[in-house]
Amino acid sequence: MYRIVESREIAPAVKLIRILAPEIARKAQPGQFVILRVDAMGERIPLTLADWNITEGTITLVFLEVGVSTRKLGELKEGDAILDLLGPLGNPTDVRNYGTVCIVGGGVGIAAAYPIARALKRARNKVISIIGARTAKLLIFEEEMRRCSDEVHISTDDGTKGYKGFVSDVLRKLLQEGYGFDMVYAVGPAVMMRAVAEVTRPYNIKTIASLNPIMVDGMGMCGACRVTVGGKTMFACVNGPEFDAHKVDFTELIRRQMAFIQEERMALELWEANKRGDE
Ligand code: NAD
Ligand code: FES
Repeated sequence: MYRIVESREIAPAVKLIRILAPEIARKAQPGQFVILRVDAMGERIPLTLADWNITEGTITLVFLEVGVSTRKLGELKEGDAILDLLGPLGNPTDVRNYGTVCIVGGGVGIAAAYPIARALKRARNKVISIIGARTAKLLIFEEEMRRCSDEVHISTDDGTKGYKGFVSDVLRKLLQEGYGFDMVYAVGPAVMMRAVAEVTRPYNIKTIASLNPIMVDGMGMCGACRVTVGGKTMFACVNGPEFDAHKVDFTELIRRQMAFIQEERMALELWEANKRGDE
């Protein structure tokens, strides 16, 4: 069992939890993720590490409460525990001095982008961050991103903070204004990463996407996380999670992510009905 030492809502339906996991904290590197299970009946949830603290022996995870599993996880309080925690998994980010890097974080993906931005800043890159959310209240990790960025550009879909539009629109604008990026790094919803890849493609800028497909074992054996990259089948858990965004088949990824949406909706309705004590 892994004890939760902090649990709080950082935006509507967005939770941050810190879990006591000294072994994972000691080995964690930017870009890596964990797979957890709340209880014996729970499904396995892959979450990219938002932070870790070796001294305290904790890891930090940020997630959106969407289905039964993430709702159950979000209900846990300080002192509660989760059953299983596997990690750190996946290949770490290739951190080196590229020159000027642009980190594009969308929605809850901003938390996952933070350790990557921090590591690239420590590697003496100039870090320009673009972070965006649907609305100002949903914008998370702004302060964290400011601490490790030379510039932070903000967008909201509804214009309640920063530029009105998508993060990919801001990226396009910066490139048109003459910003030169040696590398672009995208973390967020698949549709966002696809849009970012299409913006950088004509400029031939190396673009990395951190993929978060459905995962089961996280060990390359079940095939649940397969993605097509450059026409080849890859397993995001062992070959990724980071891939060349210009080569990822995002259409297939989005279709696969939606595969169980009906079942997830039904499971949530059932769980909510059980909680209310319905028949
Ligand atoms: P969201 O739908 O609220 O979108 C966040 C931002 O992404 C938007 O404000 C916009 O700027 C951009 N965006 C959204 N749709 C776009 C489009 N069609 N074109 C261009 N830009 C677009 O995001 P959310 O609900 O907070 O994010 C949830 C998703 O993020 C989940 O699908 C989750 O799997 C993913 N995620 C991925 C990682 C990872 O490691 N890759 C980590 C955390 C979360
Ligand atoms: Fe099973 Fe990647 S999660 S192969």
